[in-house]
Amino acid sequence: MTLLLDSPLDMHLHLREQEMLRLVAPFSAAQFAGGVIMPNLVQPVDSLPRLRDYRAAIIAACGPEPFTPYMTLFFRDYSRAELLAARDEVIGLKLYPAGITTQSEAGVADFDRIGTTVALLEELDIPLLVHGETAGFVMDREREFLAVYQWLAETFPRLRIVMEHITTAEAVAVLERYDNIAATVTLHHLMITLDDVAGGLLQPDLFCKPIAKTPRDREALRQAVFRGHPRLLFGSDSAPHPRDKKECCGCAAGVFSAPVALPMLAQLFEEADCLERLSAFVSGNARQFYRITPPQKPVGLQRAAWRVPELYGSVRAFLAGQELRWSLAGSGEAKV
Ligand code: DOR
Ligand code: ZN
Repeated sequence: MTLLLDSPLDMHLHLREQEMLRLVAPFSAAQFAGGVIMPNLVQPVDSLPRLRDYRAAIIAACGPEPFTPYMTLFFRDYSRAELLAARDEVIGLKLYPAGITTQSEAGVADFDRIGTTVALLEELDIPLLVHGETAGFVMDREREFLAVYQWLAETFPRLRIVMEHITTAEAVAVLERYDNIAATVTLHHLMITLDDVAGGLLQPDLFCKPIAKTPRDREALRQAVFRGHPRLLFGSDSAPHPRDKKECCGCAAGVFSAPVALPMLAQLFEEADCLERLSAFVSGNARQFYRITPPQKPVGLQRAAWRVPELYGSVRAFLAGQELRWSLAGSGEAKV
């Protein structure tokens, strides 16, 4: 059995730089027509020249495989002139609360001061992508941040807002209430709960921000995704860290899911008996909300099993060592 997807998109992706970029980008380019590139590099991508350099490096790292990097600028105070100049080269601005996750120190420390730039985004019709967590108790951070989303949605009704990597039932409920809000959902948050991370021996490869939540939260995400909510977009949040930064004292947050993204999604949708909805989740919904038309790139999946390698270079992938039922067509994977 095969499945042909029309220009699948990964709407939340960390590709890093240099050697790591060259290691990980080909996995996204092999499966997706394009992806939304996160700007939280060691030096954040917060100017047009930096964004152009990074975009060129990504395209070079993808080699011959066509892949459209939909670039984001790291949120800070921008002038109208800066945003006007950037508008045609970005898919949005990515807002991080200061210090909330990997390389977000330059993020927003005072939300009372973001209004001017956010109003410009609304005026110029540039989407705002948000890492929505407070600095509260780790399991409550997303829920506590929902008030900010509601304030944004009501104060700036024409602004398109993306709640990135939602993990809670309450976030799904907020999404229902506002047409100007969409949300990305990761593969790993559809699969794991906090129990998988820390219920037995600690699993550094599953440690990420936002942290995986409860079975009830996971169920709410699954229900909304598998029933085909039109404003839920696939965003892997694939975030590679070398093994020595994961298996150490002070484990970095991030799940490297790029190599398994589409095959595992096909398996989940098949298990939920809604394979026909996969295409909207990985492409159609994003095209509609972001109003983008990616270059045509059909991607085939086949029902042929393979085992996820233990290591990709210095990085352990999500589901390392496990057998998946679907693989990329033409990848030469056979029954294991
Ligand atoms: O787990 C995460 N890793 N969450 C984020 O928000 C950032 C990401 C990273 O850049 O490593
Ligand atoms: Zn991310």
